[in-house]
Amino acid sequence: MIGIGAGDPGHITMQAVTALGQVDVFFVLDKGEVKQDLVDLRQEILRRYAPDGGYRVVYGRDPERDRTTEAYVEAVDDWRRRRADVCQQMITDELADGQTGAFLVWGDPTLYDSTLAILDDIASRGFELDIEVIPGISSVSALVARHRIPLNQVGKPVQITTGRRLSEQWPSDVDDVVVMLDARTAFAGHAGQDADIYWGAYIGTPDEILISGKLSEVADEIVATRAEARQRKGWIMDTYLLRRSAPPGVDGAP
Ligand SMILES: C[S@@+](CC[C@H](N)C(=O)[O-])C[C@H]1O[C@@H](n2cnc3c(N)ncnc32)[C@H](O)[C@@H]1O
Repeated sequence: MIGIGAGDPGHITMQAVTALGQVDVFFVLDKGEVKQDLVDLRQEILRRYAPDGGYRVVYGRDPERDRTTEAYVEAVDDWRRRRADVCQQMITDELADGQTGAFLVWGDPTLYDSTLAILDDIASRGFELDIEVIPGISSVSALVARHRIPLNQVGKPVQITTGRRLSEQWPSDVDDVVVMLDARTAFAGHAGQDADIYWGAYIGTPDEILISGKLSEVADEIVATRAEARQRKGWIMDTYLLRRSAPPGVDGAP
């Protein structure tokens, strides 16, 4: 599993470049036309960093997740199993014993990505797989770097969570929350908080959009910008950091 960074081909690490040169078959789970940009980025990475060829690229159709059900965990489990079936088929059909296959994984393979779980699932079915993980620059790292801010406040924790969870409540005991996978603009429900937001969409790509400011002042602008961009491109990936001001006297605040 090779982390390819969050959208900028320059995010690729030297470790990833070395690994790219050792691959016989690249496996790509194709999500269909709408996210063609994501497939294109992977192709660009191979063109730039594995120019000698000598490998094959194999595409599998990424099954759709059932988004109609309320049973989120079960739906994700079911989706993961069906993805494992597709991946197992690709590996069986395309990889000879002793050969090396690679999945190019968006951002960092260990953060909100199911590829590792899928490969573990396949291995648990009796397949002998030797799995190596090459870390990548996550969208979280890319977000804070583009906003030129530290991820954490001095000596304080940060929580990474999903839009679904943030829409339920602001996590207890943390002032700094990074939110991913938010299709519902959950930050807008917390616009009454005394907090700053650092928001980014398509980070690292030519379409990158960055907005930051007091949550109460920029929430509407982000909601509108997000809706317009999603409409125009047909898809969106956005991440944000919410930073709540500590009340006076708390954790060393003046
Ligand atoms: C399935 S997770 C994969 C995360 C990935 N493994 C990582 O390390 O960033 C997809 C979520 O990552 C975030 N994301 C990934 N790439 C992004 C980008 N270029 N700009 C903004 N958010 C991004 C979004 O929150 C998106 O919903």
